[in-house]
Amino acid sequence: MISISSNKSSKLFGNVIVPGDKSISHRALILGSLVSGKIKIKNLLESDDVIATAKALKTLGIKINKIDNIWEIFGKGIGNLFGSNYELDMGNSGTGSRLIMGLIAGSDVEATILGDESLSKRPMRRIILPLLKTGATFYNPNNNNLPIKIKGSKIPLPIEYVSPVASAQIKSSILLTGLSSTGNTVVIEPTLSRDHTERMLKYLGARVSSKKLPNSSWKITLEGLPMLQPYDIEIPSDPSSAAFPIVGSIITPNSQIKVLNVCINELRMGLYTSLIEMGANIQFSNKREINGEIIADISASYSILHGIKIPKSRVASMIDEYPILSIAAIKAKGDTIMEGVKELRFKETDRIKAMCEGLNLLGIETIENDDCMVVKGKGPDCILNGNVSIKSNLDHRIAMSFLCLGLITEKPITVENTDTINSSFPSFLKIMNEVGAKLNHV
Ligand code: S3P
Repeated sequence: MISISSNKSSKLFGNVIVPGDKSISHRALILGSLVSGKIKIKNLLESDDVIATAKALKTLGIKINKIDNIWEIFGKGIGNLFGSNYELDMGNSGTGSRLIMGLIAGSDVEATILGDESLSKRPMRRIILPLLKTGATFYNPNNNNLPIKIKGSKIPLPIEYVSPVASAQIKSSILLTGLSSTGNTVVIEPTLSRDHTERMLKYLGARVSSKKLPNSSWKITLEGLPMLQPYDIEIPSDPSSAAFPIVGSIITPNSQIKVLNVCINELRMGLYTSLIEMGANIQFSNKREINGEIIADISASYSILHGIKIPKSRVASMIDEYPILSIAAIKAKGDTIMEGVKELRFKETDRIKAMCEGLNLLGIETIENDDCMVVKGKGPDCILNGNVSIKSNLDHRIAMSFLCLGLITEKPITVENTDTINSSFPSFLKIMNEVGAKLNHV
């Protein structure tokens, strides 16, 4: 079991490039397997989660090569996967497992999906329910957890599904199945979740549209059986990974960093909006577009923060960033109130519980109820002792968040079982240390 300790650092300074976006990397591999022809992917995130998706696709018969730093995917066209008795180990990846189930539901494939201890506890009925409507067979449809055995259909039924939660994983899974339907597939979600699947589908030539309904929910419609074109994809840097050096520099005096080429899709920007509302110095420059996504360089420097109320309407756009936002909230004057955050309980670990426990250990007061979390800020001049050991709970974002806090505590913060960081940001330690952090393996 590897542990990392984070030691007080004088400042973070310089330019940083964080790895490719995890969500977009999964989608590039999966949609790449469905184009007619070969595509090249540049800057794919080579993390455990994404590699699990690549391996699963290879097992399903997709040829994938890596030449220098470019990944080549030989797509088979839509609905052309076949075979049975496959075992697909998706490791720690909620996105990989749920999207691959959507892919299988639209193909003549039978497979068992497996995952690690954390993934095997995460809810899967949210995927089973809509995919059953498309005609997929689940050998144990009442099951909520992996392992799950699923058999898809080559021509699934086009469905209209009203999702109870705004989840890009649910939406994308259904859209992937809908690609091989003969009609329109419709997903309605309460607020719009990240739209990388829709953007990439459009870029590759599919017809997909999104519309806000009078009751403020969103309706996404996909026309079945598009001919996906083999256009190459460049993956922008991940805003969820950029969050760590950015919050690190906001809480560490004298810091000034710039993170380059970051995806600034507005459906991923909730953390940045919240930090700016809290008083953080953050600027976006050099805005441009690559394959349907907007990217920019993000600069951030040490800031004096105040607490804010983060509304439920922002949850989907910062779903993975509440742990690191809670770290920034410690240095704020006043309370930071996070409303409508129940979904955090279903991530790699119960993130509300894990953050509150860790913060309490460090002497920071929190309030938690089922759907809300409050961090009682200690103010910009607070002195935090540190000298604690935090369990990662197989959750990469919990691990990286507490390691960022260690930059400003008097004594080190150690995080146990940090292998999990490889799920999304394998170069975290190296990149943070390059700009001045003092992170060591212990
Ligand atoms: C993701 C969607 C989010 C997010 C996850 C990545 C995706 O999950 O938490 O890390 O790539 O679609 P939900 O869609 O379930 O909220």
